[in-house]
Amino acid sequence: MNKNSPIAKYRLDYKKPDFTIIDIDLEFDLAPELTTVTARSHIVQQNKAQDTLILDGEDLKLLTININEQPWHDYKITESGIEIYHVPEEFTLTIINEIKPIDNTALEGLYVSGDALCTQCEAEGFRHITYYLDRPDVLARFTTRITANKALYPYLLSNGNRIAQGQLDDGRHWVQWQDPFPKPSYLFALVAGDFDVLCDTFISKSQRKVDLEIYVDKGNLDRSQWAMTSLKNAMQWDESRFGLEYDLDIFMIVAVDFFNMGAMENKGLNIFNSKYVLAKPETATDHDYLGIEGVIGHEYFHNWTGNRVTCRDWFQLSLKEGLTVFRDQEFSADMGSRAVKRIDDVKILRTVQFAEDASPMAHPIRPDKVIEMNNFYTVTVYEKGAEVIRMMHTLLGEEKFQAGMQLYFQRHDGSAATCDDFVQAMQDASGIDLTHFKLWYSQSGTPELTITDHYDQQNQQYTLTVKQMTPPTLDQSEKQPLHIPLAIELYQGSGELINLQYQGQTINQVLNLHQAQQQFIFENVKEKPIIALLQDFSAPVKLHYNYQDNELIFLMQKANNAFNRYDAAQMLLAKYIYLNVSNYQQKQSLILPDTVIDGFRAILLSEQLDSALIAQILTLPSENEIANLFTIVDPDAIYQVRKFLLCQFANGLYDELYAIYHHHSLPYYRITHTDMAKRALRNCCLYILSFADNKKQADLLVKSQYEQADNMTDSLAALHTAVMAQLPCKDILLTDFDEQWHKDGLVMDKWFALQASSPNNALQIVKKLLTHRSFSLNNPNRVRSLIGAFVNNNPAAFHMLDGSGYHFLVEILTELNQKNPQVASRLIDPLIRLKRYDEKRASLMREALERLLKLNNLSNDLYEKITKGLENNA
Ligand code: TRP
Ligand code: ZN
Repeated sequence: MNKNSPIAKYRLDYKKPDFTIIDIDLEFDLAPELTTVTARSHIVQQNKAQDTLILDGEDLKLLTININEQPWHDYKITESGIEIYHVPEEFTLTIINEIKPIDNTALEGLYVSGDALCTQCEAEGFRHITYYLDRPDVLARFTTRITANKALYPYLLSNGNRIAQGQLDDGRHWVQWQDPFPKPSYLFALVAGDFDVLCDTFISKSQRKVDLEIYVDKGNLDRSQWAMTSLKNAMQWDESRFGLEYDLDIFMIVAVDFFNMGAMENKGLNIFNSKYVLAKPETATDHDYLGIEGVIGHEYFHNWTGNRVTCRDWFQLSLKEGLTVFRDQEFSADMGSRAVKRIDDVKILRTVQFAEDASPMAHPIRPDKVIEMNNFYTVTVYEKGAEVIRMMHTLLGEEKFQAGMQLYFQRHDGSAATCDDFVQAMQDASGIDLTHFKLWYSQSGTPELTITDHYDQQNQQYTLTVKQMTPPTLDQSEKQPLHIPLAIELYQGSGELINLQYQGQTINQVLNLHQAQQQFIFENVKEKPIIALLQDFSAPVKLHYNYQDNELIFLMQKANNAFNRYDAAQMLLAKYIYLNVSNYQQKQSLILPDTVIDGFRAILLSEQLDSALIAQILTLPSENEIANLFTIVDPDAIYQVRKFLLCQFANGLYDELYAIYHHHSLPYYRITHTDMAKRALRNCCLYILSFADNKKQADLLVKSQYEQADNMTDSLAALHTAVMAQLPCKDILLTDFDEQWHKDGLVMDKWFALQASSPNNALQIVKKLLTHRSFSLNNPNRVRSLIGAFVNNNPAAFHMLDGSGYHFLVEILTELNQKNPQVASRLIDPLIRLKRYDEKRASLMREALERLLKLNNLSNDLYEKITKGLENNA
């Protein structure tokens, strides 16, 4: 147990800062073993009653403090920083301190990545660099001068524009940068290293020339072009869709191999996990290409939503993240297939966010209580946050939404804002009342809609009764009804759409739910309609409506909205998953009617549907997605039922799968959406048919695809199928892949993740791979791909009844707790959800958590999650 339990912070305790910093002049004398930081800040008192300046600082060695160029001794170093007493109303504070980047394994602050030095300051990393008011509502102008050895660090980068540089006689050189835009410390960045640079330019809509530079490890230039293409598309798109133009003369992206998250939007100098920059067809999959496009867009879009308007405090994180995810989703939708993108996003929400809402970490998109801020960079804040923005977009429509954005920038550009400020701008610009809607910001949990209907033949009336209910969460026992936009369509049996009418008026297809129970009556309905619910997933809710199989098969084939087609298939599968899990548990035989198979056959053979959409419909929900159908999760039953369904599909659709597989082969690799769609469908067919009884043919197909593939998408799909279907060729292919790629960490991540997801002996395999030549516990990407995949994507193996999976995770976390608390904290998520499992598993999980709680130097990150996990079980 920690000596002193960490203290929680509360959203409602927000107080304006007592001081602000107008500008800061930073000087770095850089070296991995020892870096000296000189910070000269111009500080102004804001609160006349307070003459003690309290600065944040962690792991710093203070050398000197001067105020107005005179040594100052009236101060005290504390646990969390420094207190400087009796300071003047306005002064220059000069602090010199030392840090040790080489010892920084947490990758927060200034650290070493390969041969380079780089920073990560969000959320509270700047305090690991110097003593500062490390909070997002203190905006200062930064000037940064970096001095370092020229041979080792030919490139010295920071935010803004390069204003001076020079040479020293001792082999060192220096560069000075100035960022004209005031910014909070979390947006500060510095990079020093030797790189290959891809250069390009972008001409903005007001004809300004912007230099674009992408910095990658030497030798990786041939993998940087797609990132540049994506960046230029993102800049163009932000101008055309949001009217937003870039504001500096230079925009830089640096790719680093050691990074805790995806990427970071530092002003003018984005730093990226190399996973989201590097791609060429031989090493990156279609999925990787789309990921890069999305993340490049995301970070670029932060320049307006995050940097120009930032967050007042970290509780407001969704102000920038939810909005920026919404923007990157729309960017990807506009660049590729809107329908496919929407389904992919909904899948993540349903799989990961719904699980978080049902976990002891449940929190509103704007949390109220935080121990460790790093724990709140969550799917709830990001993805559910984006859904909340999307609902406003649905309620307002594109035009009014864009007017709201304009008003938001007009009011808040150059300052730190709150989520309330954003909604207020949307409301004021549109005239649409969002008072009730705002509850989405403060209420956690996934709302459930239970819908019943009644058709009155005589009066030609169709009545819909909608009940909403949000189950209690650990953080909130009481829930209120929300304002939920429910988009619906009614169909005649012929497939024709029915005009929604009430009292002689045509009504909007988006119904506004406000109450626990509401009724909607539709008139002039000539026959009992089939209802399509939640068009485009109009709200992040769970749906209960008693569909008949034939209605779902109808919607799969006839619904206008692609998401509805996909969702009808999902609901049909969910019915049989639910039924069969119960059959399995009662040791009865598993069943799937031929009519269901036939419904899917019709989709597979459909001529007008996009291949990518067919692939999405034909892909069974993952074990994790299925788990969210149940209050108590039975990982073994889910695994067996899913496999049963796969085998039924494989045997029942074999000829069609085989024919389409052959029909969709492509002569060469291109990154176009039609080609990606073809590959997706083809690889989906290969995967399913490999579960047929006839394993021999699958083995040959997989082997030959692997051998002939000229791109990673197809070779990895073959390998994935070989492992998941446990085909005879799997070991040969796995060995071949290792031989070919063992020097390439990003490629090996796919291989590690795949083996960690193995249906047989996964734990033994993972343990053995810990000593593999390409693995290292110091690299977050490796850890996530091997250990993260095991604990998250292989529930049957992680939740083994002997507790071996939990035991393994405890050992790993014991080591990572010291090394990298952020990475450790992300891995623990599946272990704190004990309430979702049977008593035997829950008690093993509890024991594991109790062991972790006893660790020396337990990080705040793990402490917060472990205590919540244990609390939830009481
Ligand atoms: N702001 C970053 C993004 O969403 C998130 C991020 C990157 C981050 N690195 C981090 C958050 C480290 C916390 C810690 O684009
Ligand atoms: Zn972001």
